Amino acid sequence: MTDSKILHEEFRNRFGTDGMAYAAPGRINLIGEHTDYNGGFVFPGAVDKGITAVIKPNGTTVVNLYAIDLRQGCTFDIADPTGPSTTHFRYVYGVVRELTDAGLDVMGFDAVYGGDVPLGAGMSSSAALECCFAFALNDLFNGTIDKMTLARIGQATEHKYVGVKCGIMDQFASIHGREGALMRLDCRSGEYQYFPWHSKGYRLVLVNSCVKHELVGSPYNDRRASCERVARIAGVDTLRDCTWEKLEALKPQLSDEDYRRARYVLGEVDRVLEVSKALERDDYETVGQQMYLTHKGLKEDYEVSCEEIDFLVDEAQRLGVTGARIMGGGFGGCTINLVKDDLCDSFLKEIQQTYRTHFGIDCQPIPVVISSGTHRI
Ligand code: GLA
Repeated sequence: MTDSKILHEEFRNRFGTDGMAYAAPGRINLIGEHTDYNGGFVFPGAVDKGITAVIKPNGTTVVNLYAIDLRQGCTFDIADPTGPSTTHFRYVYGVVRELTDAGLDVMGFDAVYGGDVPLGAGMSSSAALECCFAFALNDLFNGTIDKMTLARIGQATEHKYVGVKCGIMDQFASIHGREGALMRLDCRSGEYQYFPWHSKGYRLVLVNSCVKHELVGSPYNDRRASCERVARIAGVDTLRDCTWEKLEALKPQLSDEDYRRARYVLGEVDRVLEVSKALERDDYETVGQQMYLTHKGLKEDYEVSCEEIDFLVDEAQRLGVTGARIMGGGFGGCTINLVKDDLCDSFLKEIQQTYRTHFGIDCQPIPVVISSGTHRI
């Protein structure tokens, strides 16, 4: 997390007073990818990287933002009906609008913020930004909005102000994270459960491919549209309620592409349950196998992987890593790897070398610690 001392200092220099500091984390996801908007299960955990903001109400109707990493500022009125055009600032603008719509009396404020979630890595830097501001403004303007609603406010911001029809996983994880625990969320019922991550002899390691092929949100939205089409034809709310039998029966009516998208989702819902059971008996070999199967599905059926990521997953398998797969929305970003402690150093050394030889660019291991959710510092 960005050191809040630096932010406090910048805040004082810019606004001549002191503000309150808040932090919101990015996330990893063990398994359960592209299942959230299908009413399925996800298995995320918050990490020790995120967004930190120093904020103070200023008694006006104007919001003054300064993003320290971008060295860029932005000012808008809380009643402005269109808001800033820069995507980055639209996240905060959207949160302000959504909180207002939820009944919170948001007034003007000053803020300085920064973060250390690698951008485009699939670790939800944007959810961290949304959750940081949603949580902080609810706190500073004496709101009583519950945590799940704050997460939904972040999600609605993506939908309405940025144009990405994301599910709830990222914002849920950022708000609800707990030190040392992964969470299994049932995205249909909203019920969740903490799973202490006592990975005896194993580590979760991210490897950032440092490539991002998705230029806008549209391939993501296309996947979602495919799933919704199949659900409509199957007569269910979401694919979570579509059985294997029903999907097979509908196959002749579906495009090959839509069929494969749905086949991946049904498989992934099953895999999360398989992994939950395996974790209860500390069976990490099964967890790892399911991760490889998820990757295969994301590559072949859901088609959200890319050459660089496939290479990282294949190399992980060749080097004896227990489980590996693409993590997050896809089209680049990170792999998540379940690695035996004693293999970790040699795996990372080797994969960095072979990746550089193959693609002429560096991949980047990202060490993460499972940490607490959004909070006031
Ligand atoms: C992105 C979205 C999430 C989720 C993942 C894929 O991170 O924001 O809602 O759909 O992709 O699992």
